[in-house]
Parts: sequence; C-alpha cells; structure tokens
Amino acid sequence: MTSTKPASCDIAIIGAGQAALQTIASLKSGGFDGAITLLGGEAFLPYQRPPLSKKFLNGTFERDRLFLKPDNYYTDNNVDVRLNTYVTHLDPDDLSLTCADGTFLSFSKAVICTGSRPRQLPVPGHDLENIFDLRTIADIEAMQPEFRARAKMVVVGGGYIGLETAASARQLGVDVTIVETAGRVLERVTKPELSDYFHALHTTNNVEILTDAQVTGFIGDTSVSGVALPNGDTLTADLVVLGIGIIPNTELADAGGLTVDNGVLVDAVGRTSHPDIYAAGDCTNHPNALLDRRLRLESVPNAIEQGKAVASDILGQPAPYTAIPWFWSDQYDVKLQIAGLSDTADRHVLRGNYADNAFAIFHFDGTQLVCVEAVNRPAEFMAARQLIKEAAGGRIYDPDMLGDETIKPKSWLS
Ligand code: NAI
Repeated sequence: MTSTKPASCDIAIIGAGQAALQTIASLKSGGFDGAITLLGGEAFLPYQRPPLSKKFLNGTFERDRLFLKPDNYYTDNNVDVRLNTYVTHLDPDDLSLTCADGTFLSFSKAVICTGSRPRQLPVPGHDLENIFDLRTIADIEAMQPEFRARAKMVVVGGGYIGLETAASARQLGVDVTIVETAGRVLERVTKPELSDYFHALHTTNNVEILTDAQVTGFIGDTSVSGVALPNGDTLTADLVVLGIGIIPNTELADAGGLTVDNGVLVDAVGRTSHPDIYAAGDCTNHPNALLDRRLRLESVPNAIEQGKAVASDILGQPAPYTAIPWFWSDQYDVKLQIAGLSDTADRHVLRGNYADNAFAIFHFDGTQLVCVEAVNRPAEFMAARQLIKEAAGGRIYDPDMLGDETIKPKSWLS
C-alpha cells in the first residue's frame, strides 16, 4: 500500500532554517499538538549557518553538529518534513500553497521563513567553475576541496562572509585577496574605527585587501583563473568566493499580495498583512519598540526571537519581540560581539586599546548609548547589552565611566 501525505495541515512553515526551527520548537514547548508541515527548499533539516564560514569551512566542525535537532525530533513531534521542496505559490485567500513538484497543501496558518539568498555579481565570466557563494552546506562542500595551502583565493566583498572566509582560509594556508567596493571593510555594520581594526588584523595575517575596488569580470576557460579589475590588472585566482550581501526572499509574499517593503512587513509578533500568515527571520521587516523604528535584520538572534514571537501569538499568548539587536563574528582568535546599532552614532569612547586585541567601543547618539562593539571583551558586551536597553528607555550613561578600566562592567548595572 502506498502512503500519501496529507494535503492539509494546521501550520505550514515555508523554509527550513533557524527561524522555522525556532517557531516549531516554541510551538511544541508551548503545548501545540496540531499538524505542522515544514517545507524546505534545501536537502537538509534545519541547521546552523554561523559555523559554515568558520569552523565547518576550515574542517574543525563536523557536519552532524550543524543540525539544530536530530532527525527523530521531527517524527517524535508530529512534524511532516518535506525537504527539496520549493514552494512556488502562496494563496492567502485560499489558505493554500503549491510547490515546484506540484504538491498542493492547504493550511490554517502559514509562517514564511524563506530567509535570504546571496547577491549575484553579473559580470562576464560569472558562470565559470570555482566561483562560489557561501550560504549553504552544499556551497561549503563544493568549495572545501579547493582550500589547499598556497591556493590563490579572491574574496569579493569585505563584509562578514568575506572576512570570516578569509580567516578560515588563512588558517589552511590559502593565499587570500579581498576586493571590497566600499572604502572600508564591514562598512554596512560598523563605524570606521572597527573597520580599521579588522583591516589591520587581516593584513597582519597576510590577507591583501583592496578597498574602493571593483571586479569587472572573471577570466578562465572552464574554471576561473583570474579576476579582472577596472585598471586592467588581473588577480590570479584558483577560486573565488562571493560575499557581497544578501537579498531577502520576499517574492512568495509579494506575489501573494502581502505587504512587502524592504522585507515582508510584520508586526511585533510576526503577523504579516494577512491575519493567518506570519513571517520570521531574514526575510522580514519588523518594528522595534525599544528603538522606535522598523528593522530588517540579518542575524541568528533575530530569527530566534521572531520565531518565539510567532509561536506565542499562534498559541494565543502573544509575547511581542522587543530586543536590542546583537551580532557576533569569529575571525582568527578574535571574537567580535556587537549589541545595538551604530548607524545613528556621532561619537564614541574606547575602553582598552586596539593593540591588545581586547577592547570595547561604546557609541553614542548625542547623550544616548546606542551600541557596543566588543572585541574579546565578553563581560563588557554582556553588561552593555543591558545598558543599551536602559538607554533606549532614557537612562544616560557617562562615557568616561564606560571607558575607565578601573570600573568593572558588573558595577555599571547597579
Ligand atoms: P554583508 O552585507 O555583510 O557584506 C557585503 C560586503 O560586500 C559589503 O562590505 C559590500 O560593500 C561589499 N560589496 C557589495 N557589492 C560588491 C561588489 N560588487 N564588489 C565588491 N564588494 C562588494 O554581506 P555578506 O558578508 O555577504 O554576508 C551575507 C549575510 O550573511 C549577511 O546577512 C550577514 O549578516 C550574514 N553573515 C553574518 C555573519 C555574522 O553575523 N558573523 C557571518 C557571516 C554571514
């Protein structure tokens, strides 16, 4: 007898990343016992992406450890998992969806967790072999054999992906050149002081960094052998990794008539413009009551918190998402932790010094503490997260106190 999968469910979760898994886990821990269907376009159960550009790439983190839950978690919890299943159409009026393989599914509620995809660089030669995106397990497994000592790698983009990949590659003896179009690395997420620090960290580790630089094309027969620059120079390349940002996957929501504006527009519990459809993670644009503005965040903490908020609302106990955003990055033996957003900041105070590879930069917007960038300073990061939250509520902190090493972070909280 052949078994057929049900064509309806209580909750359809579209996309199988961190936000999807968190939604399921929070629903289950909240006592939800309905039928959940998880539809994922990749071949894998939900996994962590942060190790991909770090320890998974340099071979010190096994694939099995990437998975957020073991296989049996899904069967034990009545989650019908459909992998390699790409949802192509969402019909909010009919509360149904259709997949590329023709599967039709109706649902009572859906959660869009479609995440984001790497931006492409449509220059001549972009389809040569050995030019890689870095977003998925499959991407890493395709590029890993090319990471050999003295292989020449060009990384396009000096953001998080570019710098983390460069660090992982140097640890394996790969020669690395970064081509960054902006005037400094990490420009999207940090102020110049931290960009300068990471630039110096990488050049000390023999990474060549070209800023204000463009790629005009990739050269090679079948496989890439060079990267062309506007001045006619060519960088030799055995492989290229692209890390030039992401595009939120909003097309499904958009085509379904949901409101999209730099991400799928959701409220503080993840509800879209349709009452039975939610969204969580990279693909969303949500209001942050603490910061009094809308944000589209590309981070794991955001995916987790939004997943929790969505589940809370479905469970009938709405717990709005209001958190100070935070981020981290590991490069060589440096752990960067950022809390808050520095884009509105107009001054800063430094605690410690750059040469020690252990410091914290506190950013202020006028008198308001808005962000900390901590390098190998977890105590400062942890305490400052709380301060930034209180500062958003109007509390004023003295920059000199934060910069004074004789005053311990614990005492800031009193
Ligand atoms: P990103 O936005 O952080 O950095 C992209 C960089 O590429 C920018 O510096 C930009 O100026 C540069 N760029 C754009 N177009 C270019 C071009 N044509 N030529 C040269 N440079 C160009 O995005 P990235 O690094 O690709 O990361 C992708 C996503 O993964 C982001 O959402 C990021 O937040 C996330 N991620 C986060 C990590 C973390 O939080 N530690 C680690 C790795 C990835």
